[in-house]
Amino acid sequence: MAARAGREVPTLTSDSVTHHSSAPADTTFLPGPVLLLGAPGVGKGTQAQLLMAEFGIPQISTGDILRENIARGTELGKAAKVLMDQGQLVPDQIVNDMVQKRLTGDDVHKGYILDGFPRTLAQATWLDTHLPIFRETPPLVAINIRVDETELLRRITGRRVCPVCKHIYNIYSHPPAKPGICDIDGSLLKHRSDDTEATFTERMKAYDSLTAPVIEHYRSSNRFREVDGEAPVEQVAQSIVAALKELRRHNPDFGLLIPDR
Ligand code: AP5
Repeated sequence: MAARAGREVPTLTSDSVTHHSSAPADTTFLPGPVLLLGAPGVGKGTQAQLLMAEFGIPQISTGDILRENIARGTELGKAAKVLMDQGQLVPDQIVNDMVQKRLTGDDVHKGYILDGFPRTLAQATWLDTHLPIFRETPPLVAINIRVDETELLRRITGRRVCPVCKHIYNIYSHPPAKPGICDIDGSLLKHRSDDTEATFTERMKAYDSLTAPVIEHYRSSNRFREVDGEAPVEQVAQSIVAALKELRRHNPDFGLLIPDR
């Protein structure tokens, strides 16, 4: 996330979050490959944007890739839109192929943030099996963000997104200065078509039955931490960075490519 005119951009430092509008900080800590897990609206995208800005590693969001396909009117996008508007998941094979293609990019060698993937046990197994074949990187670490369901509904229905720079707003907790207009580039903000109360209910059903087991899959490993997502954005970001540092520091296998600050 590059510097933005007209608005202070939150960035992270080792022990605190500061606000400035310069380029990402020069840091020697690299988090490597990171999974951000959690229910719809917990703040995965918001936190991924902050990590991306701080560490210069890309966010890989399967939801964003699917929405780009919808916007371009591809066959994949047309098929996915029907499922997404019903709150259902897109078939595993489709998203696995999307992730595989994205992970061949030149920008992932320092690490990346997977946001919204894996979302089924089949996707998690596929990732665990295939990832070492795609890239030689430190093992994935997983951060689960926890938020109460009533708050999730408020976050989902209040979310507005800039279609150009992708900055995420919320009419309750993080409104733009001018209603409906992006502070950064002046675009008209969008309300996602799946951000209704009815679709949220279906998304939560899919989450409970298909994605919650993925969290248990990673919880039972030594690559997992959980953070409280109900805190303010900057505080959640601090907890995530602290958890990443702890995970990388305490497991010798993780530390090799990740020099401490
Ligand atoms: P996707 O786009 O991945 O949606 P999601 O997982 O439901 O997550 P969201 O994007 O809704 O929320 P978020 O956690 O990123 O929250 P955000 O940061 O925006 O997937 C959409 C659909 O695509 C799926 O339903 C499925 O159909 C399909 N799909 C995608 N991946 C798939 C896969 N792997 N397999 C199969 N199908 C797949 O924050 C939400 C709001 O809260 C914002 O307004 C924000 O400003 C606010 N907020 C954030 N943090 C805070 C805070 N700490 N305090 C107060 N407000 C906050």
